[in-house]
Amino acid sequence: MDDFRGRLTKDGIRIHDPSDFAGMRKAGELAARILDDIAEMVVPGATTGVLDDRITAMIEEAGATSATIGYRGYAHASCISVNHVVCHGIPGPKVLKDGDILNIDVTVVVDGWYGDNSRMYVAGKLNRRAERLIQVTHDALFKGIEAVKPGNTFGDIGHAIQAYVEAQRMSVVRDFCGHGLGQVFHAPPNVLHYGRAGTGPVLEEGMFFTIEPMVNLGRPETKVLADDWTAVTRDKSLSAQFEHSIGVTATGAEIFTLSPAGKFHPTWAA
Ligand code: MF3
Ligand code: CO
Ligand code: CO
Repeated sequence: MDDFRGRLTKDGIRIHDPSDFAGMRKAGELAARILDDIAEMVVPGATTGVLDDRITAMIEEAGATSATIGYRGYAHASCISVNHVVCHGIPGPKVLKDGDILNIDVTVVVDGWYGDNSRMYVAGKLNRRAERLIQVTHDALFKGIEAVKPGNTFGDIGHAIQAYVEAQRMSVVRDFCGHGLGQVFHAPPNVLHYGRAGTGPVLEEGMFFTIEPMVNLGRPETKVLADDWTAVTRDKSLSAQFEHSIGVTATGAEIFTLSPAGKFHPTWAA
């Protein structure tokens, strides 16, 4: 018994109605616009806490709600993960310095629908190695999205991402995954960014989920710091992540969190 529309598959994955796409579009658009608008504030000397304060204000100005404030005790409107931080970096007094790369992850709730996305930014000048990592991570997300269509499986998504990343001699983080979402933040299935083609649940029109691969220049292992949130690479190598919220359509994927300003990739944001 539940109050949501649609039905559940045997794997507990919600199949949404065609009319539900409109709610996801609105939430996704706001989430993406916030990531567009924060870009100009990502400069050497800024603190991650100041960026988060601005994101909190933008969500409020839009009349929306942050999905992360109050989520399992988390107290911020964004996760900001700098350099070797893989994900769930907590905004605070940390000062950005020239050449730092960072992921900003924002999830908003609009009319009950969740829009979850993240992308990479650079403070100051982007160095070659970081640029390659960011490009590969971005392209890995899109390899995953290209594998989305009814009849394919979640394993096809993970396989496409892993095969691409490892061919570039980088590694895919195993310890965190994408997730179903919709009128809830985190729902089945776990969307793995690695795996075997043809395995896992079959994709059906009306499924909503995120794909959010984390890619490391070094080894894939992570550890969580004493704050219980911040995940870092064990070998301290640089890490990057991009995330979109998507819906399965009759023929492929609809990306709910496309950048309205066309600024999804940091080298296009300048
Ligand atoms: N937005 C993250 C995700 O992609 C989750 C952040 S949960 C938080 O699923 F509590 F750390 F904010
Ligand atoms: Co997510
Ligand atoms: Co996210």
